[in-house]
Amino acid sequence: RIAGPCSMVLFGVTGDLSRKKVMPAIYDLANRGFLPPGFSLVGFARRDWADQDFAQIVHDAVREHSRTEFREEVWKQLAEGFRFVPGEFGDEQAFKTLRRTLDELDEARGTGGNHAFYLSIPPKFFGSVVESLQQVGLTAPEKQASGLPAWRRVVVEKPFGHDLASARELNAVLDGVFDPESVFRIDHYLGKETVQNILAMRFANNLFEPIWNAHYVDHVQITMAEDIGIGSRAGYYDGIGATRDVIQNHLMQLLALTAMEEPVAFDAASLRVEKQKVLSSLKLPTRLDLHTSRGQYAPGWAGGEKVVGYLDEADIPRTSATDTFGAIKLEVENRRWAGAPFYLRAGKRLGRRVTEVAVVFKKPPHQPFDAVQTEDLTNNALVIRVQPDEGVTIRFGSKVPGTGMEIRDVNMDFAYGGTFTEASPEAYEKLILDVLLGDPPLFPQHEEVELSWKLLDPVLDYWAGHGKPDPYESGSWGPQSAHDMMARDGRVWRRP
Ligand code: BG6
Repeated sequence: RIAGPCSMVLFGVTGDLSRKKVMPAIYDLANRGFLPPGFSLVGFARRDWADQDFAQIVHDAVREHSRTEFREEVWKQLAEGFRFVPGEFGDEQAFKTLRRTLDELDEARGTGGNHAFYLSIPPKFFGSVVESLQQVGLTAPEKQASGLPAWRRVVVEKPFGHDLASARELNAVLDGVFDPESVFRIDHYLGKETVQNILAMRFANNLFEPIWNAHYVDHVQITMAEDIGIGSRAGYYDGIGATRDVIQNHLMQLLALTAMEEPVAFDAASLRVEKQKVLSSLKLPTRLDLHTSRGQYAPGWAGGEKVVGYLDEADIPRTSATDTFGAIKLEVENRRWAGAPFYLRAGKRLGRRVTEVAVVFKKPPHQPFDAVQTEDLTNNALVIRVQPDEGVTIRFGSKVPGTGMEIRDVNMDFAYGGTFTEASPEAYEKLILDVLLGDPPLFPQHEEVELSWKLLDPVLDYWAGHGKPDPYESGSWGPQSAHDMMARDGRVWRRP
């Protein structure tokens, strides 16, 4: 589907995310023919730039990060709709200029009064931007020439707050001005093909759902491991840490999609109901000391090179207690999952980059084969490989060829790359197009965000009051406390 006439205003054009993700995604969408001919992009920032300077910034970002071939004619057409408005986030005069610019674009390029405001800026500025937009009448759409109301949407990026209270404040700011259906919170994991495929796998098939419950499932492990450190993101990361950075959002969404009931339809309202239900039935263990773990990377190895520990990274205070690794056990208190816990873990500078959801099944109730012939058998598992090597693996026991009855684990693999020739769109392309189409299923609503903070706040508070994270060697699979936490339950983390 191609987006209808519209323009997008990008706040925070100099940020990393704008350059690496948003700008290239816009070009890639144009290149693939998903943007309307008059699509316009307005940059807003505290820079003394002209339209051409802004176009140059977008050009450089596209040349460096776009995923599709650079085509001069596509670029030229797209760049004709670029405008730049200099100004501070609370400066009424600048917002009046923005309003005038958008009105002119409506006239000149037929954008129809439809505007998406993309706030790629720290959340502390949301309030003043949204207020300024309101002051100049940009949040209340007028009727288009066709008589249909024009639309106004706001796009925000995580972090959606740093705890429940701040998330509520942010939500109040946004929902106070835009109606909740017009607030698009980007969790880029939901834009990934393999994440959407969790729903397809579960609900478009009859094979998995009958055993997708605590009768057959022993537990579920959700892992988001990165081999990189924090790079140059000290300013953002320190004081935030792994749990706030990725568990609160990406991992909780993966959990919700894996554990939820079937929605009545694939639309935002139906998905929201089911996700909220499952997020509301999550429960933390009472002993957080035994069933959670947090770590901080120490020096070690990554990609064959020696790397420094977190405390030696540039701009990190030597006393920082920020977690670069977090692991949490959760119970889902409903009929489907009671007794089959979910274990979440995420960390930087781990053994390799991999995100996966592993559904680990119970052992068969009876085994007619001798123990010695089956001793290497582990539990059956279904592993959804979110990235890299996107695909699904099923692990089960199979007879080893030979005269005896020896059985060992084998893998049955489905690889995206081997089956589909089309390259998947980048998550940002999919999500930005959905914003322009007004298609909200893949965007978390404020209730989901608040439920997940409500769940994690006690863990973060507990950690804050109990010393420091456990160090783990860079390139390892996290601190000993994470392994101990699993061992206490008689289980082990998978080694992806
Ligand atoms: C972001 C986090 O949301 O996700 C980063 O802020 C993390 O810390 C990144 O590196 C990982 O994204 P992906 O798509 O590479 O798994």
